[in-house]
Amino acid sequence: MFESRIFKDPKWLDEGQIPPTLRVRRREAEMLIRRYLNRFYSGAAASDITLIYGSIGRVGIGKTTLGRFVGKAVEDSVGRYGVKAKYIYINVFAAPSIHQILALLAMQVGLRINVRGITAIEALRAIVDHLERRNMYALVVLDEFQSLLLSSKSSWDDLYLLLRVHEEVPTRDGLNRIFFLLIASDIRILSLMKDRIPQVESQIGFKIHLKPYTPEELYEILEQRAELALKPTAWQPYLLEMIADSFGYRESESRGDGNARKAITSLRMAAERAEAEDSYMITENHIRWAISENMAGYIPVTELRALSFHELLLLLALSKEVLYRGGYVTTGELTKRYQEIAEHYNERPRGHSQLNVYIRNLSNLGFIEARGSGKGIRGRTTLLRISPEIPVDRLVEVLEHLLVDRLN
Ligand SMILES: Nc1ncnc2c1ncn2[C@@H]1O[C@H](COP(=O)(O)OP(=O)(O)OP(=O)(O)O)[C@@H](O)[C@H]1O
Ligand SMILES: [Mg+2]
Repeated sequence: MFESRIFKDPKWLDEGQIPPTLRVRRREAEMLIRRYLNRFYSGAAASDITLIYGSIGRVGIGKTTLGRFVGKAVEDSVGRYGVKAKYIYINVFAAPSIHQILALLAMQVGLRINVRGITAIEALRAIVDHLERRNMYALVVLDEFQSLLLSSKSSWDDLYLLLRVHEEVPTRDGLNRIFFLLIASDIRILSLMKDRIPQVESQIGFKIHLKPYTPEELYEILEQRAELALKPTAWQPYLLEMIADSFGYRESESRGDGNARKAITSLRMAAERAEAEDSYMITENHIRWAISENMAGYIPVTELRALSFHELLLLLALSKEVLYRGGYVTTGELTKRYQEIAEHYNERPRGHSQLNVYIRNLSNLGFIEARGSGKGIRGRTTLLRISPEIPVDRLVEVLEHLLVDRLN
């Protein structure tokens, strides 16, 4: 039977695994958990909104992790207080309209209704009733919250209704049943909310700003992953230090991006390479290679910032096509997607010849690559893709952040 020399339980190096304890950000997590348990236990009677946001332009800094960890910990420990609570995580990128959010909420609390046929307020009332009848609380984590305020799919009124549920849909016993933990990319969410849903903004009871991780913090995070995922004989602390130093953020030198995702991915890649080479342990060379691979996946944010709004939209359209379908994209497919995205951002799509100018510029700058269609496709068309050294999933996120930025 094959036995790995390197891995003990590799899933702990996968994206999206929340470790059993948070060694870094433990204080923030405990504070939030205590706060929710207190509220549930003492019976709060007002809408409750907490906000987690990150430093501008930073990704992979643990926003989602903190929110999910807190939600799960609260759900797991309420029993001790004789209270029932359900934690519900929704990434609103995947549920961009109020009806989609309400449908998920209803499903998660175990309520079988068809929210499509009724108004948002009716659906919300049914959900609140259901919770009240079961004497239950819901802790709803809305991740990527900023995108709801930018999307044309959700009206501000509906969003207002949702977040002020306790005032708009009062319960019989006067207790607030739905608590919201909003996660947004950065501080600009506050001005966006002030502008679009001011009453909700003023009701945020608690805000937590997360900064990029320092080398010391990344080391702690990596060490925990190494302990969980790798055989003790396969790694040494100094290897983790190399990764932590490469990606850790040092304010004084303003360098390093503080991204835990990149740090963990580097460790995973080094471990996989060691395994593929049938090595007994991860070596410094494996680590160097993995770090440089992840550095190369760097997104040229400064260059992106110099692009026009519609160039950003076009690049986002191409990134999404490439992300979802892979390979090359025809200009026709790209144009269609671009028009959708432009509409989504309430912009009038630019015409054909202007798009060609953008495409030329983006390929001169090295963001995209173009080639002729050759055989197989009728007529002549240009095929496009994002340059291979750019990680498309990260590019999508950065572009969305930049677009939000421009709208303010
Ligand atoms: N404090 C932490 N302890 C352990 N692992 C962490 C911690 N913070 C982040 N991670 C890990 O780093 C990766 C990125 O974290 P996360 O997804 O929470 O970042 P994010 O700020 O939400 O990123 P994005 O801006 O892309 O949404 C995840 O795999 C996560 O498990
Ligand atoms: Mg996140």
